[in-house]
Amino acid sequence: MCGIIGFAKKGDSTSLSCVEILKQGLKRLEYRGYDSAGIAALTKNGMVVVKDVGTVDKLFSYPEIQSIEANVAIGHTRWATHGRPSKINAHPHTDCEKGIAIAHNGIIENYIDLKRFLSTEGHVFSSETDSEVIAHLIEHFKKAGMKPFEAFKKAVSMLRGSYAIVAIDSSEPDKIFFARNVSPLLIGIGEEVKFVSSDLTAFIKYAKRVIVLKDGEVGYISPESVHIESIDGIAIDISSRISSIDASIQDVDKGEYPHYMLKEIMEQPYALAQTFSSLQTQDLSDILRELENARRIYIVAAGTSYHASLLGAISFKRFLGIEAEALISSEFRVVSRAVKWGDVVIGVSQSGETIDTLLALREAREKGAKTIAIVNNQFSTIARESDYVIPMRAGPEIAVAATKTFTSQALTMLYIVAKLAERASIIDVDAKAMMQGIKMSYEIAENILNTTQDIAKAIARKLVDKQSAYYLGRVFGVPIAMEGALKLKEIAYIHAEAYPAGESKHGPIALVEKDFPVVFVYIGFLDEHIEGNIEEMKAREAWIATIAPENMVHGSVARYSDTIIKMPRAPLETRLITYIIPLQLIAYYTAVAKGLDPDKPRNLAKTVTVI
Ligand code: M6R
Repeated sequence: MCGIIGFAKKGDSTSLSCVEILKQGLKRLEYRGYDSAGIAALTKNGMVVVKDVGTVDKLFSYPEIQSIEANVAIGHTRWATHGRPSKINAHPHTDCEKGIAIAHNGIIENYIDLKRFLSTEGHVFSSETDSEVIAHLIEHFKKAGMKPFEAFKKAVSMLRGSYAIVAIDSSEPDKIFFARNVSPLLIGIGEEVKFVSSDLTAFIKYAKRVIVLKDGEVGYISPESVHIESIDGIAIDISSRISSIDASIQDVDKGEYPHYMLKEIMEQPYALAQTFSSLQTQDLSDILRELENARRIYIVAAGTSYHASLLGAISFKRFLGIEAEALISSEFRVVSRAVKWGDVVIGVSQSGETIDTLLALREAREKGAKTIAIVNNQFSTIARESDYVIPMRAGPEIAVAATKTFTSQALTMLYIVAKLAERASIIDVDAKAMMQGIKMSYEIAENILNTTQDIAKAIARKLVDKQSAYYLGRVFGVPIAMEGALKLKEIAYIHAEAYPAGESKHGPIALVEKDFPVVFVYIGFLDEHIEGNIEEMKAREAWIATIAPENMVHGSVARYSDTIIKMPRAPLETRLITYIIPLQLIAYYTAVAKGLDPDKPRNLAKTVTVI
C-alpha cells in the first residue's frame, strides 16, 4: 500500500528536473500512503537520501532536497505495516555502507529470519521495518563477489511474501533494479527517460508507453533500455508487452478543484458516458454466455466495490430472476467449498490490485469457476489473471474515497443485466427501456450535481458536530445507503451505520433520541414501506434527511422529513446509478466543514495490497 517511483534519464535531458519528476510522481502516489516519504538519488557526490514522516510537500520543502541533481533516483511514499511511521522507518533504506538504497511495497514474511542471519554476519540495522533486509542482503551477496544485478536477483530469490522493489547502487549508477511479486509494478517508457513505479499516474506526464510486470519478474531500467527476466534468469522479449497509455496528464491533475475527491465527484457525468460508450464497443458475447450458463454467480469485492456489487446482485435477482450473491472478498472462504466448475465469479475492483479480491478470484479459478474482472485499471493484476475483463474506463481515480468508480461500477453491472434481459426476452422486463434508463444516467448525474450542492452543504452543517448517523434504505436503497455511510465514516470520521430500514425496530432504534441524524434513501421502487420507517424515526425526534424522487415527495416523506433532497424525475436504472451522488457531496462537505482533508483520510490507503 505504499507508492514507489524510480527514474533513469539521459544526462543531457535538461528539460527533465530530478526534483520535479520525484515530487510530482510522489504526489500522485500519495493516495497509496502518506505516513512518510523519502527519496534516494545517485548524484555526482554519491548517494543522497532524504526522508521523513509527513507529506510529500513537507519532504520537498527541505533545502537539502532542492539542490539535488541526478539522472537516477528512487522515491517512496509509505503506509506503515511493519514499524510505526517515523523518520528511521521511512523508505528508502540503505545498506551498511550507504552505497545501496531500496524502496519496497509489500510485506517480507521471512524478514525476521533474514535479519537474524544478516546480524550474525555483522550487518547493523537502522529501522524496525521488514524492508531494510533487502538492502543488506544485496550488500551481503556483493561482498561475496557478485555483480550488482546478480546480487540483487540473489537477494530477491531469498524473499518470501509480497513485494515491488526498486534498488539503486552507486557502483552501477545508471541503473535501477526492480522485482515484483504480488505488489504491482509498472515500467514507463519515455523518449529520454524510463520509469519504474507502482502506478502509471506517477509518470504519465513523461511516458506514454507502459509494461506491466508479472509476478516473479526482475530486471533493470537505464536511460536507454529496459531489461526484464524471470527470477530464474530467462530473458523476456519486451516488444509484445508494451501498451500505449490512453490517459492524459489532465486526468490525474486536480485542475481548479481544491480536492481530487470533489473533482472526481464532479467528473461523474463524463465518467459514466465514457463507461457506457466503452461498454458499447466491447464484445461481451462470451461473458454473457458464461453468465447465462452459470450454475451460480458470485460477485466478490471490497469496500465501495462491494456496495456496487450488492446493487449488481440485487439487479440479477430482481430483474432477471437469476441467483447471484455478492460477497466481501476477504470472506470468500465462507462459500469457497461450494464453488465449483460451472460457477462464474465476478471480481469488482477499481484498482484491480485489492489483495482480498485477487485471492478470492484465484481460489475461484482453482476450483474451476470462470472469472470475470470489472476493473478501472486495465493494467492491473486482477485484469490480467481473470478469464474475462470488462474495463470501465472511468479515468484515473486518485482520491482515497471512491466516487466516480462506484457509479461506473453500478452502470456496468446494470448494463450487463440489461444485455442479459435482451437475450432472454423476459416478459416483464423491457430491456430496451432499461438500456435507455442506463444511458440517461450521465445527463441526470449532471443535473443532480447542479441542483444538490447547496442542500448537501446545509446537511453537512447539520452533521458536522454529530458523533453518529444512520443511513437507511430498502431493497436497492440499502447498498446506496451503505455506500453513503462509508463515505461519511472514511473522510468525515463520523460513525455512520447503514442497514435495511425495516430493521430499525429490531434494535438500532434504541439509539435514536432528539436530533439523531437519519438519512433515508428512497428510490421509489419496492421501498414504499420506508414511509413507516420515517414515521418511526420522527416519533423519536430524529432529525431526518430524505433523498427522494421529486415526483414521489408525499405522505410521510413530505410530512416528517426535516429536509428533502428532491431528485429529478428519471427511470429506475438512472436512479440506481445516481442516487449516491448527494451522499458523496454530503460526506465531502462535512469533511471540509470539519477542517479535514478528504483526499487523505487517516489510516487509509487507496489500494489495499495487504491481507
Ligand atoms: O480498488 P478496489 O475497488 O478493489 O478497492 C476496494 C476498497 O478498498 C475501496 O473501495 C475502499 O473501500 C475505498 N476507500 C472506498 O472509498
